[in-house]
Amino acid sequence: MRESLIDLSYIAASVLFILGLKMLSSQQTARRGNVVSAVGMAIAVVATLLRQDMAFGYIIAGAAVGGLIGGIAALRVPMTSMPEFVALFNGFGGIASLLVGWAAYQQRVGPWAAGEAIPGDPPVWYLAAAIYVTLLIGGVTFSGSLVAYAKLAGRISGKPILFRGQHLVNGALVLVALGCGVMYVLNPAGVYPLFVLAVIIALGLGVLTAIPIGGADMPVIICLLNSYSGLAACASGFVISNNVLIVSGSLVGASGIVLTKIMCKAMNRSLTNVLFGGLGVSGGKTSVAVQGEAKPITAEDAYYVLEAASSVVFVPGYGMAVAQAQHVVRELGEILEENGAEVKYAIHPVAGRMPGHMNVLLAEANVPYEQLVEMDDINPVIDTVDVAIVIGANDVVNPAAREDEGCDIYGMPIINVDYAKTCFVLKRSLASGFAGVDNPLFFRENTRMLFGDAKVSVQALVTQFKET
Ligand code: TAP
Repeated sequence: MRESLIDLSYIAASVLFILGLKMLSSQQTARRGNVVSAVGMAIAVVATLLRQDMAFGYIIAGAAVGGLIGGIAALRVPMTSMPEFVALFNGFGGIASLLVGWAAYQQRVGPWAAGEAIPGDPPVWYLAAAIYVTLLIGGVTFSGSLVAYAKLAGRISGKPILFRGQHLVNGALVLVALGCGVMYVLNPAGVYPLFVLAVIIALGLGVLTAIPIGGADMPVIICLLNSYSGLAACASGFVISNNVLIVSGSLVGASGIVLTKIMCKAMNRSLTNVLFGGLGVSGGKTSVAVQGEAKPITAEDAYYVLEAASSVVFVPGYGMAVAQAQHVVRELGEILEENGAEVKYAIHPVAGRMPGHMNVLLAEANVPYEQLVEMDDINPVIDTVDVAIVIGANDVVNPAAREDEGCDIYGMPIINVDYAKTCFVLKRSLASGFAGVDNPLFFRENTRMLFGDAKVSVQALVTQFKET
């Protein structure tokens, strides 16, 4: 009876996960989707705790320690560090799965060595294979995510790290890992050193997979590691025969892969090219010298242009997150609308530092969803726009990606703000963006630079509208 109830709860939790995920795909329903998924997770946790074989002491101690560390970290992390925080989360998911696999092996290695069958266990080869897969994916996810964290947090260089023979080394390590796996599955109790070697190889492979990726390609590896963390959880579900872990792990794995594909499309790259290409190796320079004279503008002069504009498109980027300018941007948008302009917010898929970064910030500021437009929808009409206001974006509006074949981000689709009648760029300097590529947009004839912190600059524009 108890087991049936647990199984039913797992089915209910899985359905809620799927519904929640579906609702997350639209901005209107995303918040509710989050709640629905959280309810599903609560049901899954309670149902799991109902199992008789639970060691409650360990669970409570683990939840208390983990909850305390997570709670303090979440309270202290600034919004701009969210992306690296998410990278760490992926990593902890990976190490948790690895440890589940390792613990399952520890529990069984004795009986397996003694040739004893464990009641209720699946066949030895099946369990050994599941443990091994959990271990490999969990290890790669953990160390790969730590590298991604270090790159995003600026603790190591964000540039790709490549060395001669890198693919050979990776290939050799994969072969050794596969070889160890076959030997382990054939004789799981007798090859403990190979098991430990596999853990080390998995951790090494994670590092080697993440270090060659850098610059504008980081979104892809973040989504991929997110997917790996789901696959690791799914594999650990097979190890401990937990259906809800298998379902939730597959959902994370599959949605991570879909997101990876979306990011690759946004960069106009194939996954193979991202993983083995090493974007940014040339040191982030454009092949054509970017030069000219940038034309600064004051908030007062910018006001006169905006006051006369009948269509305005905001293009937010990472700098908007740094400046926390989203609320004042929404206020300026409302003022422009009241002034008779049509206002839109154009969002590039890789703007910011995590998938959906700009959408989250604008939703937090209550920008109406109908005003958000995707890159593919704004580009065909951008030449009809009176003013494009770039708020702390750089790489995602860099025309070098369209025009300069020799530059590191060549081929990455951008929002063509330089085709708008006038373009205001709000940033603090002429410095390059995340990919380290110089931006010729700043020197275009129709571009005006409004230098300074984005929040201060937008506030100054709002003040101009209010006082004039
Ligand atoms: P970036 O190219 O990173 O440029 C952001 C710009 O914001 C900087 O050039 C900086 O210039 C400006 N800025 C910083 N603080 C500011 C402030 N307080 N006020 C005003 N401006 C400020 O941003 P993007 O255009 O959004 O492009 C995103 C990049 O990150 C892409 O290369 C993307 O591939 C990469 N990336 C994305 C993700 C995801 S998943 N979205 C993950 C990792 C990496 P100043 O210093 O001159 O102010």
